[in-house]
Amino acid sequence: MTKTIDLRSDTVTQPTRAMREAMLTCEVGDDVLGEDPTINRLEARAAALLGKEAALFVPSGTFGNQCALATHINAGDEVLLSEGAHIVVHECGAAAYLAGAQLRCIPPSNGSRLTVADLQPRLRVGDDIHIPRTGLICVEQATAFGELYGLADLQAIYAFAGAAGVPVHLDGARLFNAALALDVSPAALAACADSVTFCLSKGLCAPVGSLLVGTRAFIAKARRRRKLMGGGLRQAGFLAAAGLVALDTQVARLADDHRHARLLADLLTRIPGVTLSREPAINMVFVRTASPQDPAQTLAALTAQGVLTYAPENGEWRFVTHQGIEETDVRLAAQVLARCWGPQS
Ligand SMILES: Cc1ncc(COP(=O)(O)O)c(C=O)c1O
Repeated sequence: MTKTIDLRSDTVTQPTRAMREAMLTCEVGDDVLGEDPTINRLEARAAALLGKEAALFVPSGTFGNQCALATHINAGDEVLLSEGAHIVVHECGAAAYLAGAQLRCIPPSNGSRLTVADLQPRLRVGDDIHIPRTGLICVEQATAFGELYGLADLQAIYAFAGAAGVPVHLDGARLFNAALALDVSPAALAACADSVTFCLSKGLCAPVGSLLVGTRAFIAKARRRRKLMGGGLRQAGFLAAAGLVALDTQVARLADDHRHARLLADLLTRIPGVTLSREPAINMVFVRTASPQDPAQTLAALTAQGVLTYAPENGEWRFVTHQGIEETDVRLAAQVLARCWGPQS
């Protein structure tokens, strides 16, 4: 049987053998009572890694972001963020539903990245009863489009927010990819925000889970909010055990995914009519094609030849490399795409 080359997302990764073994043998307890030793270990590890006081295990990145929003703001407050942010585009409107947030969606002026100049004119502070208050600024690192803020850019946004008395939440679903690509510590990135979410179940290939980190007081409040949202998971140590192995074994491996994304980008741009939307900074490649082939037809042809991706969004095709995708798979996928999009099609 030929191997399916699944480039839809790094969320499709499978837990490693070491993760499965850790899940089998870990100690667990009732985490809602604070009695799961493996969860407690993972939360302490996450807080230490990111240089924050405390951490909270949550079921998903979406959960972590939404829990953060609802913990930071009061209903009716505005949240400033990029119009392309995952929180806006891919979280089902949860911010309105769960936090009562008014999302102020900003067209970012630096690719998919916000600048202080983008935020400045939208900031709303003061006592005028007509005006919603800016309750939070959200940034993504890496962005949902695989781009990276420079450390200095994040520091500038954090300083700007701090001067205005507005907290910052960092959606770091792929924080470890970002830290690796920028050659900075995850803590250096986390230092640019009051709260951070990062995911274990993307490139780090644990089966389930994300962490929300922040001050002890913030996490205590978020823990209550997690319970309200139905995220008190009892013997969740089975999941944390895999998460701990992910942090031990998968962080350095992300470099392979980045290398494979770069290779895929180079191979795809050799196909006439294919252009890179942006240089791949982590494990994501976005391209546009001049091919007249209908996207649904392309998808069907790719699937028939064992290459999976999602339908394009706004004309952009996304390919994500991850554990289990080897260099030979990348080369094969590029050949299949060349057959679909090349001049002979
Ligand atoms: C930037 C970003 N934030 C948040 C999430 C949400 O993570 P989850 O799928 O675990 O809810 C994703 C998922 O891909 C993401 O790309």
